[in-house]
Amino acid sequence: MNHFANKSLLKEIDFTAQELEYFIDFAIHLKQLKQQHIPHHYLQGKNIALLFEKASTRTRSAFTVAATDLGAHPEFLGKNDIQFGKKESTADTAKVLGSMFDGIEYRGFAQDTVEQLAKYSGVPVWNGLTDQWHPTQMIADFMTLKEHFGHLQGLTLAYVGDGRNNMGNSLLVTAALLGVNIQIGAPTALQPSATIVAMAKEAAAKSGSKVLITSDPGAAVADADAIYTDVWISMGEDVSPQARVKELLPYQVNAKLVAQTEKADTIIMHCLPAYHDKNTEIGKALEEEFGVTALEITDDVFNSDQSVVFQEAENRLHSIKAIMAATLGDLFIPEQLFET
Ligand code: CP
Ligand code: NVA
Repeated sequence: MNHFANKSLLKEIDFTAQELEYFIDFAIHLKQLKQQHIPHHYLQGKNIALLFEKASTRTRSAFTVAATDLGAHPEFLGKNDIQFGKKESTADTAKVLGSMFDGIEYRGFAQDTVEQLAKYSGVPVWNGLTDQWHPTQMIADFMTLKEHFGHLQGLTLAYVGDGRNNMGNSLLVTAALLGVNIQIGAPTALQPSATIVAMAKEAAAKSGSKVLITSDPGAAVADADAIYTDVWISMGEDVSPQARVKELLPYQVNAKLVAQTEKADTIIMHCLPAYHDKNTEIGKALEEEFGVTALEITDDVFNSDQSVVFQEAENRLHSIKAIMAATLGDLFIPEQLFET
């Protein structure tokens, strides 16, 4: 019996630390197979729906290549191409997709939508980002940390910037589940909600991790093994860019902030996309509008030797492959591995 058979990945808290680490270790294994050109067709003959209500480079590419490497057929269903959200309810869409596809990826706005897809489709559903959570990104990020440091337990991860978005929520809860100390630096108005903090603290009490939520960016990055940031305005957010930039500029990951860490080998992380490069159209527009050429991270830090942002991006492929293979593949993953 495969312990993960037909399970959906909707949010991190639905999984135990052991289960999340299984995905991470399986992803590291699949990365080696890919590098050695060893076939791994765990999903031969399956069909995967890729449902996107929001834009994506990494998640879309990773699901497409992962499905293909696993022997499956991926089918992209963009929000403008199908009836979903316009003429057809989520439940009806789920029933139809579930009758034709073996698994469904969903990226969009409401967490409730991905939960409904799972409820009504009858097939595994993988959350490729909602306003609230980004669980497939977590497997790639904690895989990257494990590759770099060799272990997870006891590491300290600092996340600075918008602490109330999907990345803030997911990093907080996943770190707490996995025994990684998590330090969030954000202005009071952009700190994680009391519900998410309570969820993380409960998980941390079990795993032995420590949770710090502070408005002091220096305190957040002190003794951090990794400093993580994300965009200041997330997809679909309707806020004043001027007000948000002013609010978050003190939390920019720049050389001055990085110098406040006490460790010599702190790594820099970002889920991407990032606003950092003054030589791009985006950079020029930022300079015109805000008088700055970078927002959440400066170009020097983004491109420094400490930065692992492109390793994280590549790891989206291997981790998504592990998640799909474990939940949909004909594998033997014994229940006993997960008995506590
Ligand atoms: N990190 C991430 O999810 O990137 P995309 O938005 O490009 O998928
Ligand atoms: N917080 C960002 C993450 C992008 C991967 C967003 O939701 O736009």
